[in-house]
Parts: sequence; structure tokens; C-alpha cells
Amino acid sequence: MRVLVTGGAGYIGSVVAGQLVAAGHDVTVLDDLSTGFADAVPPGATFVRGTLRDCAAEVLADDIDAVLHFAARSLVGESVANPAKYWSNNLGGTISLLEAMREIGVRTIVFSSTAAVYGEPGRTPILESDPTRPTSPYGASKIAVDTTLTEFCRLHGFGAVSLRYFNVAGAFQSTEGRWLGERHHPETHLIPNVLAAATEGRPVRIFGDDYPTPDGTCVRDYIHVTDLADAHLRALGAARPGEHRIYNLGNGAGFSVCEVIEVCREVTGIDIAAEVGPRRAGDPAVLVASSAKIQSELGWRASRDLRAMAADAWRFTQARSPR
Ligand code: UFG
Repeated sequence: MRVLVTGGAGYIGSVVAGQLVAAGHDVTVLDDLSTGFADAVPPGATFVRGTLRDCAAEVLADDIDAVLHFAARSLVGESVANPAKYWSNNLGGTISLLEAMREIGVRTIVFSSTAAVYGEPGRTPILESDPTRPTSPYGASKIAVDTTLTEFCRLHGFGAVSLRYFNVAGAFQSTEGRWLGERHHPETHLIPNVLAAATEGRPVRIFGDDYPTPDGTCVRDYIHVTDLADAHLRALGAARPGEHRIYNLGNGAGFSVCEVIEVCREVTGIDIAAEVGPRRAGDPAVLVASSAKIQSELGWRASRDLRAMAADAWRFTQARSPR
């Protein structure tokens, strides 16, 4: 299959693009490198540098069969400070892509959605049918895309699958030995921040320890990036004309910030210090997915636990900055 991967130079997009190449697909990556890295694009994929608005039509015209759409802005805090950037990139950019797909006749899309569409959940674990009440422009832009996809399926016969990721972590080593992992600037995610603290010999900051959770720190559902990639390949095969399927993607188990730091201490062998700071605005206390739907409908299972995520993220960190 000829597959277009938008955002394929980013963390998750590059891992999925690598898995698609390994599975024998013909992959084109479209990425403007605003947050991605050209060296993350897997060997064997064709790379086009550009935006969705300027380049989607031209790239799609090259006999593309299906699109995996990762290209987006993804910082919750930045979205609160600059909502227009999120509406323009995440919704506007996606509409450019969908219109180009419609005109050219490409109707299969797998979309990178997020747990942020649920906002502060009313219950846990979260089901796909639970209310979507995003608390940030980032989450709002993603649910707006989900709504748009539903319409394109109904009106234009698209087959779409939205995957709502919980906390993606870990790294991937390709067959040629390269490690792909998180390289965000600024880095906001917990595990890379804990590992950076370990490398630099300084404490990691815990954002609040007065939440209504067993140890007072926030609880999240972590999923390994290669399990996530596996779900994308299954979703690609499951898209059906006229249907918009939506699946949560998580492990179904919650870990607190303190528990994550402890696992990082174990895998690094470093006694990483932690200091408690104030809460980060907009963090829900507990976010845990029910992944029962994707398990029963697509046969997907998470196969790697938190320790594997921390260990692989550490290997990636060390591969980039040997000590
Ligand atoms: N945290 C710290 N210290 C840090 C970084 C994070 O204590 O240095 C805490 C956060 O406050 C949070 C937990 O660790 O309680 C996880 O934070 P991350 O930033 O790693 O992940 P989030 O849960 O905030 O973000 C995830 C996805 C986003 C999505 C969001 C929805 O990465 O894309 O869930 O809430 F929008």
C-alpha cells in the first residue's frame, strides 16, 4: 500500500513510518520540520518537506492509497497561550488535507487524536462514548477534527479511524539500529524530563502532590510507542468507507508521577532526586483509558509495560548523549 504519513519526522509519526516501511508499505513522509527532525524519517521512506496547506495535494496525487495523519501542534500550555495557532494548524491544516484527499479520491485516513478530548473525566477508566469536554484549545482542536472526520465519512464516503492516545512513552530501535524517541523543545513530558534530570544530576520537578490520588501525584496511563504503532497498522486495515471508528489507546493501568520516577530510578540505577512544585494548570488528577473496544474490535493488546518504556527511553537518551 502507498501510505502518506503527515508529521512523519516527529516522535510518534517517525516510529509509525518506520514500522510501515518494515511491514513492506511504500511510505511518503510530509513534514514541515517545525517540530520534527529530518534524520528521524526512516531510510526507505520518501521525504517531502512542506506544510499540509501547500503540499498535501501534490503529494497525494502520487498514487497514495491512505493517509496516517500525525502533523499537529501538541502542547497543551502553548495552546492556552495561543489558541489561534492550534485552530489554524490542527483544524485548518487538517481541512486542507481532507479537501485535497476528497478531490484526488483518497478516502482512507487514520488520525492521531488524544485523551485531551475528554478533559476532566467524570469516571475512570474512560470509554470512547464518555462525554468530550476538552479543557484546552489543543483538546478542542482535536475533537473538532474528529467531528469533521465523522462528516467526511457520512458525506463523502471516507473511511476514518481516530486513535485517542493516552500517555505515549518509550523509544524504538529500527532494524538498522537507530533509536527513535522523544526530542521535544521544550520537553514537557514526564519520562524524558526524569531521564534528563538523571543525566544532568539535578532534581526533577513534580507538579503537585496534593491531588486526590493514593500518593497525591497525578495518575496517567502510559503506552509504549511501538504498541501505539502496532495499533496504527491495525487501524489502517480496519478503515471502511462511510465509517468513522474511534478507539482509546492506553494500557488500562494508572501510574502516579512518583511511581514513574521510581521505575526510572530502577532502570537507570541512578538515585534521581525529586522536588515538589506547584500544580501545572489544567492537569486532571487521573487519566486512565479503557482499551476494551480496540481489543475486541481490532485484536490489539498492549505488550510492553512501564518498565520497558522507561528502559527504552533511557537507551534512546544514552544513544544520543553517551556518558
Ligand atoms: N509532570 C511532572 N513533571 C514534569 C513533567 C510532567 O510532574 O516535569 C507530571 C504532569 O503534571 C502530569 C504527568 O507528569 O501529571 C504527566 O505529564 P506529561 O506532560 O508527561 O503528560 P500529560 O498527561 O500532561 O499529557 C498527555 C499527552 C498530551 C495530552 C494530555 C491530556 O502527552 O498530548 O495527556 O491531558 F494532551
